[in-house]
Amino acid sequence: MKKVLAANWKMNMGMKEGLKLALEVEKKIKSTDKANFILFPSIHTISFINKIVKKKNIFGAQDCSQFENGSYTGDISAKMIKELGCTYVMIGHSERRVNYKEDNRIIKKKIHIAAKEKLKIILCVGESYKAYKSKKGKLIINNQIKDIFPKKFNFKNLIIAYEPVWAIGSNKTPKINEINSMHSYIKQKMNNLYKIDEIKVLYGGSLNSKNCKSIFAIKSVDGGLVGGASLKSSEFKFIYDTLNK
Ligand code: PGA
Repeated sequence: MKKVLAANWKMNMGMKEGLKLALEVEKKIKSTDKANFILFPSIHTISFINKIVKKKNIFGAQDCSQFENGSYTGDISAKMIKELGCTYVMIGHSERRVNYKEDNRIIKKKIHIAAKEKLKIILCVGESYKAYKSKKGKLIINNQIKDIFPKKFNFKNLIIAYEPVWAIGSNKTPKINEINSMHSYIKQKMNNLYKIDEIKVLYGGSLNSKNCKSIFAIKSVDGGLVGGASLKSSEFKFIYDTLNK
């Protein structure tokens, strides 16, 4: 299975900085047979950057509306995201689940609409620190992947990113055996629920050049979703090269 390294730039990098970073990444990183990279820049920059960067099908939006179209001020639909030149869309990032109270009902609607537009989906799942401490992580993840896909869904267009909420931007990560256990659980659950033999599960949450070697050595880890460390092309390249070793 081809590995993937995704960069979540969040609400950073305007037109100029975003283009500079994307060009640096394109120059430094050659997608190999082993891995692909995906960039999630700020939405307003994508069509501009996409026109200049040569590499195709590497862009994704960090979110999409739960509605197809209509009076939803400020929202961007899956169809519009496609028009901007995105191949991917990220759904269910914990910053949206927590800050905007996006629950499974909303996330389900987003998945349905994104699938209709044939966007590839990175679905983020993860437990809070409280749930982690009380060993309820798997229960939470189970609820986040159960009953949220349309009946006719192309699971080949799905990547899951396991991102413990408490690990994001905190410089903390779960232990290696905990990451392995959760990734294996997600794969097993996807098989039980939807008869999926192969599903990519990326790890995200304070992934950086120091810890990527040990995290990528875990067999059930198919790549990473990088936030802070993706804002420097040299750091991102280091993580990408480590994934390829
Ligand atoms: P981080 O963010 O790498 O800065 O922890 C990851 C993410 O939120 O996707």
